[in-house]
Amino acid sequence: MKSHALAPAKVILTGEHFVVYGATAIVAAVNIYSKAIVSRRNDKAIVVRSSSPRCTMSFVDGSPRVIREGKDTRAILEPICRVAYAALEHFDGREKGLDIQIDSAIPVGVGLGSSAAVAVSTIAATARLLRRRTDREAIRRLAFESECMIHKAPSGIDQTISTFGGVIMYRREKPFQRIPVRHTFPIIIGNTGKTRSTGAMVSKVRGFLTKRSALKGEILMSVERVAKKALAALQCGDIQRLGELMNLNHELLCQIRVSTEELDRLVSVAQEAGAFGAKLTGAGGGGCMIAVAPTHHAANVLRAIRDAGGTAYLVNIERKGVKSWLVR
Ligand code: PMV
Repeated sequence: MKSHALAPAKVILTGEHFVVYGATAIVAAVNIYSKAIVSRRNDKAIVVRSSSPRCTMSFVDGSPRVIREGKDTRAILEPICRVAYAALEHFDGREKGLDIQIDSAIPVGVGLGSSAAVAVSTIAATARLLRRRTDREAIRRLAFESECMIHKAPSGIDQTISTFGGVIMYRREKPFQRIPVRHTFPIIIGNTGKTRSTGAMVSKVRGFLTKRSALKGEILMSVERVAKKALAALQCGDIQRLGELMNLNHELLCQIRVSTEELDRLVSVAQEAGAFGAKLTGAGGGGCMIAVAPTHHAANVLRAIRDAGGTAYLVNIERKGVKSWLVR
């Protein structure tokens, strides 16, 4: 018996970084997925294989061992081994180990929440294998522990959206609020291809803002206003207004110096190609930007991003969040 789970990537429509300081962020799950396939072993080991990057690690009695070396094997697979171990403990399945196959289509280290989606898919598949009903709150909590291992002090936004899906308004340590979006709209992602560490970017911003407390207060107020207006725009399906607010949000992110020349270039070519608005998404310092556009301009925006040297994807909102099922 095998258990499969699919967990989605995310894009942040407004509020990244500022969410770490308690501001409101708006985040959407999108239809790029991490897939985990989990089965039981006869021994107590946890063996994780990833197809991209190709690497394998085993975890026996709390100690990780690299079996097949790939790029960043330890950094990528050790949190998965540990999260699987925590899931076995939580769902009372510690007497036997697990074989875990991870096939993720989410690019790593570029702001699309790949580590959270991998953790969420692993936990959900493990929970399903042990025949528990889908306890989304437990999945989110366990995935948060794994995110803390990777990113030090994450806000919790990534595993929340990957678990629950749709579009949500998120504030740290507060119950999140679902935003019903009646008409789905195309989102264009532009990837600069430059990877970076979220933890390092969050520390850099902390250093920057600590020395500028007046600016910090003003920016947080502006971000809060942008989030409130973006919420209203989403609720009435006004994607043009949402785009304008994303442009403003990008300027605020430039103020805290997390944008780069490449990101600014992709943002401006998307705007010139007819997008309603565009901004970097995630921690910045490289990684991805996003744009929203009228449907008839989406192809132009995609082309403009590619012509400017980015990798472009057209995605839609994934409404359901993580899904899991058993295969005999
Ligand atoms: O770059 P990502 O996908 O890890 O997104 C990080 C979002 C931040 O707000 C920068 C950090 C956080 O924990 O919320």
